[in-house]
Amino acid sequence: MSSVPTDLFPHPIVQAPMAGGVSVPRLAAAVSEAGGLGFLAAGYKTADGMYEEIKQLRGLTGRPFGVNLFLPQPETADPAAVGVYAHQLAGEASWYGTELGDPDGGRDDGYDAKLAVLLDNPVPVVSFHFGVPAREVLDALRRVGTFTLVTATTAEEAQAVERAGADAVIAQGVEAGGHQGTHRDVPETDGSGVGLLSLVAQVRESVGIPVIAAGGIMRGSQIAAVLAAGAAAAQLGTAFLATHESGAHALHKQALTHPLYVRTELTRAFSGRPARGLVNRFLREHGPYAPAAYPDVHHLTAPLRKAAAKAGDAQGLALWAGQGHRMARELPAGQLVEVLAAELASARTALSAGGAR
Ligand SMILES: Cc1cc2nc3c(=O)[nH]c(=O)nc-3n(C[C@H](O)[C@H](O)[C@H](O)COP(=O)(O)O)c2cc1C
Repeated sequence: MSSVPTDLFPHPIVQAPMAGGVSVPRLAAAVSEAGGLGFLAAGYKTADGMYEEIKQLRGLTGRPFGVNLFLPQPETADPAAVGVYAHQLAGEASWYGTELGDPDGGRDDGYDAKLAVLLDNPVPVVSFHFGVPAREVLDALRRVGTFTLVTATTAEEAQAVERAGADAVIAQGVEAGGHQGTHRDVPETDGSGVGLLSLVAQVRESVGIPVIAAGGIMRGSQIAAVLAAGAAAAQLGTAFLATHESGAHALHKQALTHPLYVRTELTRAFSGRPARGLVNRFLREHGPYAPAAYPDVHHLTAPLRKAAAKAGDAQGLALWAGQGHRMARELPAGQLVEVLAAELASARTALSAGGAR
């Protein structure tokens, strides 16, 4: 099996791209400077906004980093179901003193424009979420020297990633915070998500490209576990969401370890696609009724989430978090990389001595 180039990041630790203003340039810079791989999230940004962040990040570090893109989404939503959900959310809009957003706010997330920027101004790594890019796209990125990653949530999706010609696959377990990067949103498969350790082993046996493991990883001992299962590196989101440099709303950071938030759930309440977040009022009240309609529902609820943030109401925010959220440590991001690397080293020593607890 080929491996992830170790000159890209000496520690096998990837900071997950986190759209919505979380993985800001100062976070990615701190991670890359510490020997992990920092990531920018281009999702929900314009191509210009993405390029601005790349320039800012380049001003902060000369180390390698990645940029994450969302694949354009097919028109599968039932407008009537979106209309019914909008009706249900009308009370939220008047409570927060705002209007609902336009569900037709676009479904391609500026994909072509962002790719054009990344081909003109190549970055070391590009990852993709919510589908598999065309082979031509992956080939074009390789020609400009970019290493490509694509998320998969099943062994079959991982095979599709390898067939398309990606350099590595991100195996995202059902424990993961934020959106599941399933290639298609199929409501019939809800509840059938695969746990990370099982997924890594399945993917490892299904493809020859390197595997990066994501989902619920908060400690170096867990990184050791996924490496032992055959992963080349681990991608952590929630752990970095809690760090000083993360751009997450203060209420979101606090909620990760607040006793009020005892569990997470996969929900379509905020975006129309399954995403894991802390169970709060909005998720509890609307999750069961939200249609499979991404990004329509994302556009619809955007003003509600903005108003909840302005009002300081964590019960109306999308509090994305993985199952390990209670283990979050509020540290500078570079220090978190160092602590994780030290924990990984001692777990590996214990494993090789046969004495791992
Ligand atoms: C707040 C948040 C936002 C996320 N946004 C993205 C994103 O924009 N692109 C992406 O590929 N993954 C995104 N993810 C998923 C991560 O890539 C990763 O799969 C996940 O964080 C791993 O689980 P963990 O949070 O338990 O570490 C996001 C996760 C979180 C918590």
